[in-house]
Amino acid sequence: MRKSTELSAGAAVPSIVTASLVGMRCGVTGAGGSLGRALLLELHRQGAVPIALRHGSQDLVLDDNGSPLPVQTIRWQVGEEQALQPQLQDLDVLVINHGINRLGARDASAAAESLDVNLLSALRLLELFLALAKPGDGRQLWVNTSEAEVNPALSPLYEISKRALGQLLSLRRLDAQCIVRRLVLGPFRSELNPYGVMRPEGVAAEVVRQAMAGRELIIVSPNPLTWLLMPLTCWGRERYYRWFTRHPGP
Ligand SMILES: NC(=O)c1ccc[n+]([C@@H]2O[C@H](COP(=O)([O-])OP(=O)(O)OC[C@H]3O[C@@H](n4cnc5c(N)ncnc54)[C@H](OP(=O)(O)O)[C@@H]3O)[C@@H](O)[C@H]2O)c1
Repeated sequence: MRKSTELSAGAAVPSIVTASLVGMRCGVTGAGGSLGRALLLELHRQGAVPIALRHGSQDLVLDDNGSPLPVQTIRWQVGEEQALQPQLQDLDVLVINHGINRLGARDASAAAESLDVNLLSALRLLELFLALAKPGDGRQLWVNTSEAEVNPALSPLYEISKRALGQLLSLRRLDAQCIVRRLVLGPFRSELNPYGVMRPEGVAAEVVRQAMAGRELIIVSPNPLTWLLMPLTCWGRERYYRWFTRHPGP
């Protein structure tokens, strides 16, 4: 079993070096959103084959410096993740990026929707992709949790769903046969967060740069607390989960 740690964030020596993304088929959920578009464009610029996974009905066309860039688009719905298995089989990289933020809500339907979209659907996709991975096949799973894992996002349902996703990611990556990267991002401008201070294009470029440098814990945030708390949190969780759970295999 490949043993890895998320403590490479900010370190001079990366834990796993990915020299290039050239030719890799990279699927991104939430592809029509601000970060989804920016990530797909950045992946395209790095020579990867971008693939949009959308719950929206339209095929994705990106704007590449004024030129339209049509992107292969696969449709899916929350709750129908299993139907994506054949397409996931063909991916080298899956980026679980879709999300919602029911700002200010605390009613039953907002709670259920936040858990369904931000947590349960992400978890089902994660499990499907992990089950496909074989040692040495070069697959990578990137999961966009958020710095809401360790800091307030002024949105309790968002924090609850993203923290639970982050905790389950820490647990399930212990037995992963592929590279697992956690994206911990600070506020950037989008429909989900119109007050974000960073540009999604800059965030996407930095995410891809850190991934290519081999980082498994990818942090892009102006908040120094995130840089301090996130590696400590991942380190503590990893030890606690290892001590109190056992390997699922024979
Ligand atoms: N903005 C921030 O400040 C910030 C900070 C940290 C982390 N994040 C995380 O970054 C990710 C992308 O966020 P963003 O800011 O780029 O948001 P965004 O522009 O609102 O994009 C989110 C995308 O998720 C997909 N989506 C929305 N509702 C869905 C549903 N019910 N079922 C399935 N897919 C749905 C949609 O894409 P399709 O229509 O193409 O499917 C939507 O465009 C999210 O996971 C978010 O939590 C954001």
